[in-house]
Amino acid sequence: MIVVTGATGNVGRPLVRALAEAGERVTAVARRITEVPEGVRCCEADLFEPESLRDALEKARDLFLLTPGSFMAADGRLGGLLDIVRSSGVQRVVLLSSQGVATQRHPRDIEDAVVRSGLEWTILRPSGFYSNALRWSEEVRARRVVRAPFGDVGLPLVDPADVAEVAAVALRCTGHERRTHTLTGPEAISPRMQAAVIGAALAEPVRFAEQSRAEAREMMLRGMPEPVVETTLDILGEPTRTEQLVNPEINSLLGRRARTFAEWTSRALAAFK
Ligand SMILES: NC(=O)c1ccc[n+]([C@@H]2O[C@H](COP(=O)([O-])OP(=O)(O)OC[C@H]3O[C@@H](n4cnc5c(N)ncnc54)[C@H](OP(=O)(O)O)[C@@H]3O)[C@@H](O)[C@H]2O)c1
Repeated sequence: MIVVTGATGNVGRPLVRALAEAGERVTAVARRITEVPEGVRCCEADLFEPESLRDALEKARDLFLLTPGSFMAADGRLGGLLDIVRSSGVQRVVLLSSQGVATQRHPRDIEDAVVRSGLEWTILRPSGFYSNALRWSEEVRARRVVRAPFGDVGLPLVDPADVAEVAAVALRCTGHERRTHTLTGPEAISPRMQAAVIGAALAEPVRFAEQSRAEAREMMLRGMPEPVVETTLDILGEPTRTEQLVNPEINSLLGRRARTFAEWTSRALAAFK
């Protein structure tokens, strides 16, 4: 049995589908689940209340562990979660971390706790997700405008569906134990370029309007904890050289090139129409 936390999210949803299609027995976990692919068991549980995961972890061999932003805001404490994971008989954890750990933007204590847990582990460190563009969808639908800060700063954003495919490989195959995979998209893309890609997909112009850092901060605080907002803005505005580099690991892990923002946009187009 493979347990997938964050099962309704940008990575978790395609991961659950891919594992189920590959014939794996899967348990999907989130605080609220309304639908899962046929044959998938679902358990509602809260990562902040580790005891609530006991049922989900019964007979589990592998765990895909997502760490919500609020974990970082809580100083990354995993509490008793890893004790419960270990005592349930789980052997392997694939941890969805982030590139910000490598570049010291985010604390590394969650990764350290997993590495020290005695479980087999694989760590995934993706760059920013294409799906973050969904926060522009309402204004694109209403006014055909993208409002974002740092319009001309390019970053090698990644398709969360590619991250999910890598996670599926790490959960199903050997050779990924005690390895950390850095996952980026195929090219650096700026918010202004993303607006143009969305416009091209809609076949209508989409205007780019540059926000100040303060305006962006205010908007992001509506959905993200403050420390995560600040580090995200630091990365978006003043990325380090490492944060700007395209990493070819997705190509070698999946045997194909990483998907572009245009490919993600064509899948997500309904949200912008
Ligand atoms: N977004 C990025 O650019 C980016 C970049 C690098 C790494 N990451 C990592 O990717 C992960 C999620 O990314 P996302 O922002 O795109 O999120 P998301 O896809 O919106 O997914 C969040 C998922 O986690 C579940 N969840 C949230 N809090 C939970 C809790 N306390 N207990 C159980 N389940 C919980 C949510 O369902 P419920 O709300 O129903 O529980 C949902 O299924 C995070 O670990 C983040 O560090 C994100």
